[in-house]
Amino acid sequence: MTLLISSTPTFARDIDGKAISAKVLDEVREEVLALAGQQIYPALAVLLVGDDPASHVYVRNKLLRAKEVGIRSLEYRLPETASQAQVLELIAQLNADPTVNGILVQLPLPAPIDEQAVIHAIDPIKDVDGFHRENVGGLVQGIEVLTPCTPSGCMRLLHETCGDDLSGLHAVVIGRSNIVGKPMATLLLQANCSVSVVHSRSVDAPALCRLADIVVAAVGRPALIDASWLKPGAVVIDVGINRITSEFGNRLVGDVDYASARTVASAITPVPGGVGPMTIAYLLKNTLIASRLQRAAQARGQQPEDDLALN
Ligand code: GUN
Repeated sequence: MTLLISSTPTFARDIDGKAISAKVLDEVREEVLALAGQQIYPALAVLLVGDDPASHVYVRNKLLRAKEVGIRSLEYRLPETASQAQVLELIAQLNADPTVNGILVQLPLPAPIDEQAVIHAIDPIKDVDGFHRENVGGLVQGIEVLTPCTPSGCMRLLHETCGDDLSGLHAVVIGRSNIVGKPMATLLLQANCSVSVVHSRSVDAPALCRLADIVVAAVGRPALIDASWLKPGAVVIDVGINRITSEFGNRLVGDVDYASARTVASAITPVPGGVGPMTIAYLLKNTLIASRLQRAAQARGQQPEDDLALN
């Protein structure tokens, strides 16, 4: 008997961030409509300081998507020369405005503005980026808080791909930034994964990564992770957006070598069209969560003392 072995490699399926983000945006749109029926109109304020061209594109896309789902957006622009005091003054105004539910300050901020001072000036209940230390602490403790948008979007991609239950899967997060790596590891832990964080000081990062059922790459190094880093069948989420300039022009490349990785992985996010659209969708979801948390806090605050005593 002749044993026929196919030489055709099987390729990973794409995890379609555009389609999944469209689903999330539909959920947001539906909730916005329901809230409008109760005369509640959630609003997002976006502050852009300076001339960073990538930031201008990101902010334009955020405002565009907000409009599409019916979320009221307020755009504030300050020049490259704006002082930290000016930025803090505007944030104080937005914190005090009860009609503003979410505040986003696009990063990076021009030097010498202290990013941490600005992030921590935002009222945590309006911090739709989830970067404030109060929200970071709440996330670690498993309390309902505003959670960073990119990791939330990655979790949704994983649930859509692997199902509701990720219990017992081994997830490796590559990168340990405050914006993605650390909150991503925390969310995976909450989903009952065993979690490893691989970083620049890890010994034999590819060997650690090969143990993973789920790989989340967020290091900002173009095409660092190839097939040799992956266990067959791994699910790969590529957070990297690296702009490469070559003789063929500009193109976007992830942290994962897509062509190589897809010969080993079972599912993978493309770049672009994977994680990118999810970040904005979850920013808008966070705006609704912020609005709900504020209404709940207000209701608690307005409860008469006698009622509280009865509880
Ligand atoms: N710049 C790059 N990513 C982000 C993000 O998620 N939020 C903000 N505010 N700025 C960014």
